[in-house]
Amino acid sequence: MYLMNAWYVAGWSSEFTCKPLGRTFLDEPVVLYRGKNGRIVALEDRCCHRGMPLSHGEVFDNHIRCEYHGLMFDGGGRCVDIPGQKMISPSAKVRHYALEERDDIVWIWMGDPQKANPEQIVRYPWHASWPYKAKSEILKCNYLLVSDNLLDQTHAAYVHKSTLASDPDAYAKAEMHTSPTTDGVKFTRWMLNCIPPGLYASAVKFNGRVDRWQEFEYVAPSCILQFTGALDVGKGAYEERVREGGFGLRIFYGITPETEDTTWFFWSTANGYRQNEPEATEQLFHSIEAAFKEDEIVIEAQHATLRRLSGRPLININSDGARVHARLALERKIAAERGISREQVVTMA
Ligand code: FES
Ligand SMILES: [Fe+2]
Repeated sequence: MYLMNAWYVAGWSSEFTCKPLGRTFLDEPVVLYRGKNGRIVALEDRCCHRGMPLSHGEVFDNHIRCEYHGLMFDGGGRCVDIPGQKMISPSAKVRHYALEERDDIVWIWMGDPQKANPEQIVRYPWHASWPYKAKSEILKCNYLLVSDNLLDQTHAAYVHKSTLASDPDAYAKAEMHTSPTTDGVKFTRWMLNCIPPGLYASAVKFNGRVDRWQEFEYVAPSCILQFTGALDVGKGAYEERVREGGFGLRIFYGITPETEDTTWFFWSTANGYRQNEPEATEQLFHSIEAAFKEDEIVIEAQHATLRRLSGRPLININSDGARVHARLALERKIAAERGISREQVVTMA
């Protein structure tokens, strides 16, 4: 069960050109292209004549032509030309989706277009003020296992031994502040007086031990914002919430279901240090990419097992707090949209 009336990330602004791109979101095949007027169009990727995917077609100005028998559709999905035929029936149309670009992020609304309110889009000004690099990929797991993974960072001590984790003990002892919100959950984790991870130490010069913070905000159903960093112990990171002068990293996550078993994982890394050095942005991106490869192995294996042995009980432990709040927020929204109780909502275990 998906939340239908919500903004999901469909990609990055730079990915969309006049060449049609076929992508599936929430089990629906969609064709996306940028028209001559600069606006991105999203239509059902299925011609209403004989079902050819329009993503095989060609864009002319703001329209797309099906490559099978040449029907042409405008940005609203209406057929505007049938070769060799004057009459065009009003039923000659394909579905069109509301779409908005903000902060280099492309957002799509898969539900009722009448309900699409661009004011509800999560804003991300850091793409304009910090140097960043972004990636789009598909993971072979349910989308909720991706947000679960990000919302329980205790996994880093085990999964990211070689990349992000420095001091397994610091992960277990981290001080955690969690606050549920109407749309999800926010939390901050503090790892005080610990050894900086290799990634941090290679990015900026520390005197010795550091105070680390990890701030996360989950906005149901599809988005997580992360701000992570570290300062030398004694520089006021924890005591006065000083954030400048050490390591700082922001990650934007758009987690969009492709199907129940596959997920579009859109993420960008932005660096808050050595901002005039493109190689610092590049190096950060590749370090995080290596860490996400470690997550990918885990969550794809987890997904396969949960599918094979579905129905068997699972347990929650203390570190599941933020993850459980996130699931509750999403289930509340799905229940409200469908007019059912939260207990009737069916999502991945
Ligand atoms: S299937 Fe598209 S024009 Fe015939
Ligand atoms: Fe991870």
